Amino acid sequence: MQITTHATQPIDGQKPGTSGLRKKTEVFSQADYLQNYVQAIFDVIEPEGRTYVLGGDGRYFNDPAIATILRMAAANGVRKMIVGQSGLLSTPAASHLIRKYETDGGFILSASHNPGGPNGDFGLKFNIPSGGPAPEAVTNAIHARTLEITEYRTSRDEAPTVDQIGRYALGDMEVEVIDPVADYADLMETLFDFDGIRELIATGFTLRFDAMHAVTGPYAVEILERRLGAKSGSVVNGRPSPDFGGGHPDPNPVWARDLVGHMMDPDGPDFGAASDGDGDRNMIMGRGIYVTPSDSLAVIAANAHLAPGYAGGIKGIARSMPTSAAADRVARKLGVEAHETPTGWKFFGTLLDAGRATICGEESAGTGSNHVREKDGLWAVLMWLNIIAARNQTVQQIMDDHWAEYGRTYYSRHDYEEVDSDVASALMDDLRAALETLPGKSFAGLTVIEAEDFDYTDPVDGSQAKAQGIILRFEGGARAVLRLSGTGTAGATIRLYLENHEAPDGNLAQDPQKALERVAQAADEIAGIEARTGRDVPDVVT
Ligand code: G6P
Ligand code: ZN
Repeated sequence: MQITTHATQPIDGQKPGTSGLRKKTEVFSQADYLQNYVQAIFDVIEPEGRTYVLGGDGRYFNDPAIATILRMAAANGVRKMIVGQSGLLSTPAASHLIRKYETDGGFILSASHNPGGPNGDFGLKFNIPSGGPAPEAVTNAIHARTLEITEYRTSRDEAPTVDQIGRYALGDMEVEVIDPVADYADLMETLFDFDGIRELIATGFTLRFDAMHAVTGPYAVEILERRLGAKSGSVVNGRPSPDFGGGHPDPNPVWARDLVGHMMDPDGPDFGAASDGDGDRNMIMGRGIYVTPSDSLAVIAANAHLAPGYAGGIKGIARSMPTSAAADRVARKLGVEAHETPTGWKFFGTLLDAGRATICGEESAGTGSNHVREKDGLWAVLMWLNIIAARNQTVQQIMDDHWAEYGRTYYSRHDYEEVDSDVASALMDDLRAALETLPGKSFAGLTVIEAEDFDYTDPVDGSQAKAQGIILRFEGGARAVLRLSGTGTAGATIRLYLENHEAPDGNLAQDPQKALERVAQAADEIAGIEARTGRDVPDVVT
């Protein structure tokens, strides 16, 4: 094969964040940008003779990026690339393929829930053979390599088009284009009671799945409509579009407000759900009710045994630190381990590999299990459908029963987006500096009993992550957490996470924003969010 070696120079800022490298599309598509980063990955992972999975969420720049990566893979000695047809693979499906075909890892092209298009975002993430995102030791090495890179290699031959299933050659490298949906759908059939769900649907249960013009459309049509019999049209916005129909493919009450509208209609469907750009996030709704991701995790953990794949019980539950403690209460009752990790799915990897967690979840609309090493939007949807079918209850009844048993952990996240980066860092720095002075003081009538910066030591491999978010605990059990988003591409996003637990015999039917008003006020008095940012309301409330 003819290989061209291009001279290049390091490009600043190629540092992966919470989940891979994400940048504005115009940054990613500038000369040598993608190439430098991909070569840095290859320089770190020793690709000769190896096999990788490749696919993305279909956003703008997906196709040229696939071709570039294929040509560079061939030039770097890769033996085989397994590519989703038309370059499509949802993130959980990619994770599954990496595991199922025992490959040496995979390249996932996505900026997840961030908008796509020439003015949107693009991203690239490398996953390791377990199917999970590369751990920080690997991403740090990749970043270090981007700072010293001098050349990249690419094949002189063009990459094959990947629109048709089949086997192709690029020099000595094999390119196998596969159906992006089939393996994943088969896996789901092994985990959930498809007969039970089919029967539920056959007896008139209605659902609406909003794919938000993103990658889960084809997966949801195959699984929900074809295999489970939901009537055609139950999946809406099911055609992946390069700019997600001009929308923001993030399944939360703000960006999926169309779905919320349908679900709040008294004549609306029984069940509603949505997923994000690359299919790893989920939003769960019943008629008249939105289930917060933290509650969804707790309900899934408490009921997982109803699904055939988890009939033997679960080994442990892991949640990210800002996620509510609702799941911990379930773990206590089940007598299984409860883990609290930093934000970012990659921190669950070691726990899943070691069999110390079966179910994982994050407040950022991610839930999943040990079936893959990414969070999984459609998995969460199917788990809920399985639970609804097995319990023969509505979403509202399931939540009421759950809260009556465990109490209700009121929860909400307030986001302040595109804040000036200096203002946001100063806010966090000043808050950190003040932590020691806070205990014993009262704000908005709430006394701080503990204020700390979250440091984590992985119980499996001992790796450490420091300064992962500020935790403020108040007398009476309320908690506020502040951290800066690690996934944004413009300015800084300040996230304020609020929770307050109400015992089973307490008032379980409050408006969450009301139930959390005081702790929100206290956190603002402490951190000075409004005063410093000049915003008097958050941009997004989940
Ligand atoms: C991505 C990761 C999640 C993480 C989330 C947090 O979606 O895959 O694991 O929870 O980002 O994003 P943030 O913007 O809060 O850093
Ligand atoms: Zn995502």
